[in-house]
Parts: sequence; structure tokens; C-alpha cells
Amino acid sequence: VLAKSTDLAVGETKGYKSGNTFFVTRSSSGLSAVDETCTHQGCAVELSGKELHCPCHGSSFMAADGKVINGPATRSLKSYVVKDVDGNIVITL
Ligand code: FES
Repeated sequence: VLAKSTDLAVGETKGYKSGNTFFVTRSSSGLSAVDETCTHQGCAVELSGKELHCPCHGSSFMAADGKVINGPATRSLKSYVVKDVDGNIVITL
């Protein structure tokens, strides 16, 4: 369990720490989650609006699906199954 479902509104992305930090986005089509670990060399990305930016070499990713916007990273952030279960946001690792 990462948080209460009510903690995240439609259109929002927030980071939740559970070991790693996972960035969870709630869109009109549901929840998605990506890992904080940059696929370039493993730094932790940071949330900036709808994007995740890596402070080490400047890669950026879409928060909603982890896809690369700008390199040097070439691979998407790792994504996870995340659902609302009994009023909680639950991630499957
Ligand atoms: Fe993220 Fe290099 S580790 S851009």
C-alpha cells in the first residue's frame, strides 16, 4: 500500500516512498506507476510537472508511462501494476 486512494486526484502525479520511490499518476483511464531509477546510469529522477527529470545527465521521461523524452537514456523507466483496492493505492512489485 502506497497511500489512500483519495490522496491522488485525476491528473496528479506524486512520488511515494516504499523502499524506492514510485511515481504514481492518476489519469482518466486509471493509475500508472514508474520507478525512480533512471535507466541511463541509475540516478533517482525527480518530478517536474508531468515529467521526471534526471539530475545526473539530464534525461527526462513522461511521468505517466516512463517513456523517454530526452536522452541520454534510451529505455523507459520501469513501470508497475498499481490499482485502487479498498480505498488504498496498491502497487504490485
Ligand atoms: Fe540519468 Fe544519466 S543517470 S541521465
